Formats: sequence, C-alpha cells, structure tokens
Amino acid sequence: MTILHLADLDLAGKRVLIRADLNVPQDDAGAITDDTRIRASLRGIRLALDRGARVMVTSHLGRPVEGEMKAEDTLAPVAARLSALLGQPVPLVAGWADATDVAPPPGQVVMLENCRVNRGEKKNDDALAQRIAALCDVYANDAFATAHRAEATTHGVAKYAPIACAGPLMADEVTALGRALGAPARPLVAIVAGSKVSTKLTILDALADKVDQLIVGGGIANTFMAAAGLPIGRSLHEPDLIDEARKVMAKMQARGASVPIPTDVVTATRFAADAPATVKAAADVAADDMILDIGPVTAAALAASLGAAGTIVWNGPVGVFEFDAFANGTRVIAEAIAASPAFTVAGGGDTITAIAKFGIADRLSYISTAGGAFLEFLEGRTLPALGILEARAGA
Ligand code: 3PG
Repeated sequence: MTILHLADLDLAGKRVLIRADLNVPQDDAGAITDDTRIRASLRGIRLALDRGARVMVTSHLGRPVEGEMKAEDTLAPVAARLSALLGQPVPLVAGWADATDVAPPPGQVVMLENCRVNRGEKKNDDALAQRIAALCDVYANDAFATAHRAEATTHGVAKYAPIACAGPLMADEVTALGRALGAPARPLVAIVAGSKVSTKLTILDALADKVDQLIVGGGIANTFMAAAGLPIGRSLHEPDLIDEARKVMAKMQARGASVPIPTDVVTATRFAADAPATVKAAADVAADDMILDIGPVTAAALAASLGAAGTIVWNGPVGVFEFDAFANGTRVIAEAIAASPAFTVAGGGDTITAIAKFGIADRLSYISTAGGAFLEFLEGRTLPALGILEARAGA
C-alpha cells in the first residue's frame, strides 16, 4: 500500500491539519476515563510541532446531531488533556468549518471542535470537505480507528487538500495489521470471539480463506458447537447461522485448516457472577445449562496452538471474563498470546478490556486503538480513509 507519510514531509511554517481519533470514553460528568487514544495521537502532533508546523487537530467525539453543539459533545476535556500531555496550551476553536484561517503560529497547536457537529460531516459533503481542505497545506489522517468511515474529515478533505498523507499512528496500524494478514509468518491463528456469529460472519468467512487455525469463542463458539452436533442447552447462540458455521468449517477443512471445537466447557444455570460454575465435557452439556467459558482442557490445547503460532490475530474474549468464575479461558488464552513468540496483534473494545484485566498489554506486538475499523480490516475491506490516501499518493 503506497501512501504519503507525515514523517517524510517538510512541514516548516505549513498549516497542518491532523484528523485524529480522540473519541475517548467519558463518565457522566465528562471526565475522560481512558486517554489511550489521546496519548497514541501525541506522536503525530509532536512531530508536526517539532518541525515548526502550524498545527490544527480535529476529531469526532461520540455521535452528535449535526448542527447542534450540546455540552456533552465538546472536545474541551480532550483539549485540556492534550494540553497537559504536550505541556503547552491547546486552545479550542468553535465554528471553524466556516472560517478562512484558523491555523496558529508555527510550533503551536489548536484543537478544532468536534468535527461531527459540522453539517455535512457524516454524509461526506463535498462543499464542506472543500472548505476544510482550504484551511490547510497538509492534511494528515492519523485516525485509523475512524478509517472505516467515509466522512468529510476522513475522506472528502483528502480529495482536496494540497497534500494528503497518513500520520504515524495510522502508518503503524496499517503496517502491523498488514504484517499480520498480508504476508504473515505461519501458522497464522485468528481468535474471533464474541456474542454473535451474525456480527462477525463476514470476518469469519474472510479469515477462513487465510488462516491456519480459526479459534472461535463465546456465543460464536456455541453456534459452531451446535453446527458440530454438540448439545449446547440454553447457551447463547444463533440457530439461523448454524449452516453458515458449517460452511466456514467446511471451507477451513478443505484447505487443511481447522476450527477447533471446545471439548470441555464451564457452565452455569444462571447468567450471574455468583452462579455456581461447573466444568464438564462438551458432550455432557444439559438442557438447562448455559456455556459461559471454555473448559481447562480446551484452554490448554488452544494455548499450545498459540505457543506454536507464527502470527496471532485476537479479537474477542472466549468466555464471560467479567465474571471471575468464567474468566479462566480468556485468561489462559491471553497469557498464551503474551508468552507466544508469534507476531501478535489484538483489537476491539472487549479485547482491550481483557488485555488490561490480565495485564499483558506490554507483551503483545501491537494493540490496535480501533474497534470497527480493526474488524473491517480483518474482513479484508478497503477502508475508505486509506483508499483515498492511496489514490492521492498515486495521483
Ligand atoms: C470508535 O470509537 O470505534 C471510532 O471512534 C469510530 O466511532 P464511530 O463508530 O462513532 O464512527
């Protein structure tokens, strides 16, 4: 993939607009509860500042109604956190999409208020995109987590900005995910887990063409167990997708690859943190049982596969890890990934929470800051924000 990189450009005195993804979680009072995305964006911002650029940073926050700026939509807490991290002021500029010049002096940075409040942002309005492009000499997209959206600040502006390039975070994400799925060291093992096959069917289908082992977990695994003819009692599953699960298994088998089906599980008769947990063989699941985790024999077998992998892509916990009695499977998998010599990438909201819970963040090769974009990348789709940067680099 050929794209221009911010790091390769002469930025002195230039008006540089960085589209970051600073869509951070906040509590009810608006306080930021996890600033990972702000910290991840620092590199691109510092790079531009150090080279004497006139830096403007924008991002969306949440999903506001266009044209309506509510108190909870403001990037003010994000600007304050960025200012603290950078050790310099970060003034917040409102109404910027209708202005003609909002760039600060060289070596300084401003934050342009929530871009999704601008009318036309989500529809990728061309006129809005052109107005935004006119504000900068260089547009840098450093928002991989929003790369699956074709919006005015992620796509349209890149058509019209004098130069359109990728920031360093975007570049790292593309390199890491490309390494994992483009030319992976084999065996390539993917873990795709979560509640529903339906939300990840296209990913399972795309990965079935590529990976050597496809480990399924959670409600997805229950549907695959049903497809393999195992009893699953009252476990979360999707009867309508049992045929699709069979197709994925058949596709893998035809390639000499596998979808390991759990041989033992942890069940309960209630979905609750204090529900008594029972380990049993997969064949012995009773009619009123709910499968809430993989069993220790399955976890150990999967851990052995992960230890022998060349590349691991991880999306989704394999059990209800929020409840301690059903967290063992995800813990064993997490620790096996951390201990594996493989190139390891992980992404997705629940996965990041599990990584934090089991304290393995610094032992993975790469943790994506993205949720939806990570999943669409796994599906093998061209992300619009990347597609346009490629098109511009080739122009
Ligand atoms: C995310 O949090 O996954 C990204 O910021 C994208 O947000 P969106 O789903 O509202 O576009």
